[in-house]
Amino acid sequence: MDNVTIVAHPLVQHKLTLMREEERSTKGFRQLLNEIGMLLCYEVTRDLPVELVEIRTPLQPMMAPRISGKKLVFAPILRAGVGFLDGMLDLVPSARVAHIGLYRDPETLQAVEYYFKAPVDIADRLTIVMDPMLATANSAIAAIDLLKQRGAREIRFVCLLAAPEGVAKLRASHPDVSIWTASVDERLNEHGYIVPGLGDAGDRMFGTK
Ligand code: URA
Repeated sequence: MDNVTIVAHPLVQHKLTLMREEERSTKGFRQLLNEIGMLLCYEVTRDLPVELVEIRTPLQPMMAPRISGKKLVFAPILRAGVGFLDGMLDLVPSARVAHIGLYRDPETLQAVEYYFKAPVDIADRLTIVMDPMLATANSAIAAIDLLKQRGAREIRFVCLLAAPEGVAKLRASHPDVSIWTASVDERLNEHGYIVPGLGDAGDRMFGTK
């Protein structure tokens, strides 16, 4: 699939399997999502440019690589997207954070905005949008629409699971946005859930319902 990177690393796949299990506790689910967030962050930042800078080790001077001026914005879609945030911020503590409040209308499955706040210099930064589930893609598309209206120019999307329908729809609306995911599952069911999936990520993270 064009513009989709499936992160096949054994640690990611193992942790995803644990998360899918219906008996996984809320605490365990949240912990695993945080850990996978860190691993996906490692992959989505793999091509950040580096420059050589002169430093001194305790033994001698050397030229050593450092990330060259690429600044990041992490943009979790509330509420489940925040499950990735701490793991990503552990790896990139200097990133700024945009919050995008969208909920899915249970009847229409359309994304409804209730909150949006983004850094003012978002146009100069690489924005990484995060939501564990890329299902209908309505929320992802709405979030990226909002970020682009606010000036974001370079955007990537990170999720845990994607449905083929969501991937196709996101690509049609925002072909410039590449996707990183741990798995593309079989399909969406009639309620807009990813199958086999893992259920409602937000409910499983927060112990609601
Ligand atoms: N959101 C979820 O939390 N789970 C799905 O399967 C689809 C959307």
